[in-house]
Amino acid sequence: MGHRRLLTASAPKTDGMSLPASVLSDTEIVATELTRIFDHIPSPAVRLTDAMRYATMNGGKRMRAALVMAAARLAAGGDTVPAGAVRVAASVECLHAYSLIHDDLPAMDDADTRRGKPACHMAFDEATAILAGDALQTLAFELLAADDTHADPLVRARLVMALATASGIDGMAGGQMLDLQAETNPMDLEEVRQMQGMKTGALIQFSAIAGGLHGGADAALADALERYSRDLGLAFQIADDCLDYESDAESLGKPAGQDADRGKASFVVLMGLDQAKQAASSLIAEAEDALAPWGEAATPLCQIARFAIERRT
Ligand code: IPE
Ligand code: IPE
Ligand code: MG
Ligand code: MG
Ligand code: MG
Repeated sequence: MGHRRLLTASAPKTDGMSLPASVLSDTEIVATELTRIFDHIPSPAVRLTDAMRYATMNGGKRMRAALVMAAARLAAGGDTVPAGAVRVAASVECLHAYSLIHDDLPAMDDADTRRGKPACHMAFDEATAILAGDALQTLAFELLAADDTHADPLVRARLVMALATASGIDGMAGGQMLDLQAETNPMDLEEVRQMQGMKTGALIQFSAIAGGLHGGADAALADALERYSRDLGLAFQIADDCLDYESDAESLGKPAGQDADRGKASFVVLMGLDQAKQAASSLIAEAEDALAPWGEAATPLCQIARFAIERRT
């Protein structure tokens, strides 16, 4: 507890719009890497590459990328991020962009806008959007598996395995199924917690754990990153639900009020707005506590965690 006060007392409040300055430069490095990757796709299916680029390079907050980089730096124990970690960060942003493209499709949330611009299926068409999601998903695994990502093939295999678990039936895709069913199935708090942990938490958890794995985290740090990111992942989705409830489409860059319109079970519906915010806040306090033994070196990860609930977009 003492450690946490020390860490957060001096931490400036985030402006709620973009990640804290300490990690913004990392996200710029990842964006440059993503541009390089898209520029070097030699496919004749240019329309598909355009749709993949459109959905990935359109102003996301890059919180998952920042998590990978900050966790890798902490694990490696230096000031610089280990070479290759940027590819892990790019990978998770590709997987995330794919999940958003499919989430916005008419068959799912039927959302016309994303990140303040037309959703991928509006800017292109539904078939292209489905394929762009598919191809971004496989690109994410290609990036992890390639030699440049890490010298040790066992680390690369573990990264691939971890992303598969986080994004498949036990993670994002399974959670999205439960989320769609939540429109018609009443859910209790525990069921909502499980659904949120799968659809959103798993990929956020992957980001921190993968950064640790890439940077060579010891058992104590790997365990702490797991606890930190479990709490963060859940808090992040609670904040998303609060924003969906109380913000507007212009500020969010995506439709607002969709959960309520569809009668979807969420923390806000089950606990009320104030209690949901309180739950998110205590989760973030616990996330910070998990990293307290690493002191100042963990400050960037603690700032990302604060941002996850102070954000306005
Ligand atoms: C939105 O994620 C989807 C959820 C998992 C709630 P983000 O809020 O991180 O989206 P971008 O990448 O910043 O647009
Ligand atoms: C989506 O959750 C989570 C994903 C796995 C993409 P939401 O449907 O609440 O995300 P937004 O609000 O559209 O970004
Ligand atoms: Mg959804
Ligand atoms: Mg949605
Ligand atoms: Mg939402």
